[in-house]
Amino acid sequence: MKILITGANGFVGSSIVDYISSYQFKNLLHKNSEQIIINCMVRKSSNVKRLNSIIEKIDKIKNISLNFVYGDIREPQTLSDAIKGVDIIIHCAALLRTNNVQEYYDVNHIGTKNLLETIRLHNPNLKCLIAISSQAVSGPCDKNQKKSVDEICAPVSHYGKSKLLAETELLKYSKIITTIVLRPGPIYGPYDKDMFLYFQYAKKGLLPIFSNEFFIQFTFIDDLANVCTKIIEFILDKTKKINPGIYFVAEEKCYSIEELKDIFSETVGKKIKIFKLPSFVAYSYAYINELVHKFLFKKPAVFNRDKLNELKQKYWLCHSSTIKEILDVKYTPLIDGIRKTYQWYKENKWL
Ligand SMILES: NC(=O)c1ccc[n+]([C@@H]2O[C@H](COP(=O)([O-])OP(=O)(O)OC[C@H]3O[C@@H](n4cnc5c(N)ncnc54)[C@H](OP(=O)(O)O)[C@@H]3O)[C@@H](O)[C@H]2O)c1
Repeated sequence: MKILITGANGFVGSSIVDYISSYQFKNLLHKNSEQIIINCMVRKSSNVKRLNSIIEKIDKIKNISLNFVYGDIREPQTLSDAIKGVDIIIHCAALLRTNNVQEYYDVNHIGTKNLLETIRLHNPNLKCLIAISSQAVSGPCDKNQKKSVDEICAPVSHYGKSKLLAETELLKYSKIITTIVLRPGPIYGPYDKDMFLYFQYAKKGLLPIFSNEFFIQFTFIDDLANVCTKIIEFILDKTKKINPGIYFVAEEKCYSIEELKDIFSETVGKKIKIFKLPSFVAYSYAYINELVHKFLFKKPAVFNRDKLNELKQKYWLCHSSTIKEILDVKYTPLIDGIRKTYQWYKENKWL
């Protein structure tokens, strides 16, 4: 069994690599007694520190090997060798932040199209493509009512729009490529840099918000990695079945801003004050943050105007039980996930 993971060195990709290579998957290896080869697609410029530490860790586990393959999804000619002969692809490569809006579309939309076309040409017998999409594709809900996968998508950010275009391509090719699209909510967990900002604020006793009301569901990284692993298990096990299609992946419980405040407060052991940034202040802060990161730190900011367009919406809710029931998995309650994540940040001196 050969698995290719694009974006393998990113937060989600490397967490999935780690999860698949861990003990949970060993039972499956015993059953099938076949070797699992995980090909991690990275770029020459990628930081592969975490992947190297996973390689060191799994070296001793029989039947799993981890290799690097090089490819850039914007350049189709770099993809064919990596795609030939693999059974499953988990497509995590994407651009989540940039100083140049067009790049969202080049990487997320055109990059995904390049991947699909390369699969069509070089690996028509691929067993399954698992594409990591995003709740940003469906967009927020009008009211406190969860969105389902068949509702019309209305993304509010360039990131979300580019991921919607990627899903449109995935749908077009789904007639010839078996595809499962996963739409996680905001993903948090060890190694995450986005939600990390909230932990930093929580340590200072603050919780910034951008609209008067805010209801949201979250995805703990291990839950997403578990879903991907179970899908592989289903594909290997002929007695189990999962239909191709789109699935939200997130804890079902919706959290209000007050509940988030309490969870952070309990976790960091500090009283937390919610503060709402007026629109013009939030916009100016996002813009200045972009400029500072661009010119001073030479990298795109996590908090930017595109992200602000998402954060100022009130309801980010979705129906996420379907895949949970099919695969018979559980979602981690936010309080447990936040505690584990906080612990990890502390142990690894991020906080
Ligand atoms: N993080 C979240 O909260 C969240 C929520 C919902 C959905 N998702 C989805 O989850 C997936 C992974 O996100 P993440 O949080 O892991 O982001 P990340 O940490 O920024 O990782 C992105 C990965 O994509 C790679 N990549 C970027 N441009 C590429 C290109 N042109 N060719 C090949 N690889 C490229 C990056 O490689 P380099 O290191 O070389 O740049 C990196 O490995 C994405 O599809 C994202 O849309 C994330």
